[in-house]
Amino acid sequence: MNSTLSPDPREIREIGRAALDLVATYYESLATCGVLEPTTSAKLRPLLDGPLPVTGEPFDTLLDTVRDVIARFSRHSAHPRFFGYVASPGVPVAALGSMIASALNTNVTGWRSAPAATEIEWLVIRWLKQMLGLTHAGSGLLVSGGSMANFAGIAAARSAALPNVLRDGLHGAPQLRLYASGQAHFSIRKAAAMLGLGAANLREVKTTAGLRMDVSDLARLVREDRAAGHLPFCVVASAGTAGSGAMDPLAEIADFAREHALWLHVDAAYGGFAALAPSARDYFARIGDADSIALDPHKWLYLPVGCGCVLYKDPATARAAFTSNAEYIRVIGLENDEAFAFWDYGPELSRPFRAFDLWLLLKSAGTAALSEAIEENIACARYCASLIEVSEDLELLAPVDLSIVCFRYRPADYTGDLDALNEKVLLALQHDGSSYVSNARVHGKFALRACVLNYRTTRRDMVILLEDVRRVAPKAQKIF
Ligand SMILES: Cc1ncc(COP(=O)(O)O)c(C=O)c1O
Repeated sequence: MNSTLSPDPREIREIGRAALDLVATYYESLATCGVLEPTTSAKLRPLLDGPLPVTGEPFDTLLDTVRDVIARFSRHSAHPRFFGYVASPGVPVAALGSMIASALNTNVTGWRSAPAATEIEWLVIRWLKQMLGLTHAGSGLLVSGGSMANFAGIAAARSAALPNVLRDGLHGAPQLRLYASGQAHFSIRKAAAMLGLGAANLREVKTTAGLRMDVSDLARLVREDRAAGHLPFCVVASAGTAGSGAMDPLAEIADFAREHALWLHVDAAYGGFAALAPSARDYFARIGDADSIALDPHKWLYLPVGCGCVLYKDPATARAAFTSNAEYIRVIGLENDEAFAFWDYGPELSRPFRAFDLWLLLKSAGTAALSEAIEENIACARYCASLIEVSEDLELLAPVDLSIVCFRYRPADYTGDLDALNEKVLLALQHDGSSYVSNARVHGKFALRACVLNYRTTRRDMVILLEDVRRVAPKAQKIF
């Protein structure tokens, strides 16, 4: 046996301890390091570049590279003031889980290939449904992320509208139309394009002042399309938009969808787990009406990147969209479980053991701790908004439905271009490294966007963020 490819157990323990030590030290460093250390590709590449290795080198030296280059020049999503995107901080238990899952190297294609992993995936899917308050018999599967979950949900909607689309394609079919607000995530448009519906057949519904879908505009568009001979088939509601965290009015949209026989897909990739927070739970009262739901445990359930989920109210509809044999009637978990194959319900064949991290997290932390952390994230965002509202030099640009704060720097005596000024402030903040935000456009205005999805973030961090904006702003005007 090749000892380089298969080190003996003693060596595995030794290098494993060194790796674990690095992981623990990394987490420890988050209390004192910045969100990122600015660099350039020209500086970074030589630190990693090299010829294709012909012989191996000791693991220790690789860990040095991890510590000194890879970790150092990563943007630290786990940092309490990384507010850049709706990104998760990861959880230590999942870092260990990845190691174990990798050792098991389970390929979760179906029950026969991965009996225990399949049972665990079914179990966590049941738990996810419970977390959202879903009581129907639906099910789903884990996918790579929210984009893939949106794709899968819309694929199921397409097959429900055109039952023979897998065989016949779209040629000669009526023009299918789907609807989402202008604030919906771009993966909806991408799914429409990839599914052959055509991005132009995604109709952009207007939003209200709070950036939530305007259902009267949805009604107008559907009427218009029907009159033109098109086939409205699906409406996508956002349970937390990526831009400002706005919650589309799910109840109104669900009523409209039912009345007009439209498939309701809810993109809850960002906001879905706010259903665990008592102060946000009411938003989700009607999410059970959705025919399909996209969720991202790798956002607000704090798991590391790589774990999305699509839920189907009627799994037979997903089977119609993905199976290569036409036996549409058997549903997940009800009959002949050992013959079950995930590839009949989603786009992938080979699949990693995504459910493992989710299972470890839920079993080790429990929903009480998660609910408390999510509620605190919402409280931090609301607290930040309240500080902005009473300040003289900052302006809140959108309501805070969940945990995203869109605001801008607006000093009282400033008469110049506020968009240009805030673009500079954004760049200066990102270079400074103490707090990291991204940008959004709100009613045409350039906004600084702070997303709070980290159980390490405290109200003090929100104060520091605003202090950082004020500290870098005067410099930003001069430097950029
Ligand atoms: C509302 C929403 N939907 C979908 C996505 C896409 O998710 P992913 O990045 O996991 O593909 C995002 C990502 O930010 C999102 O915020």
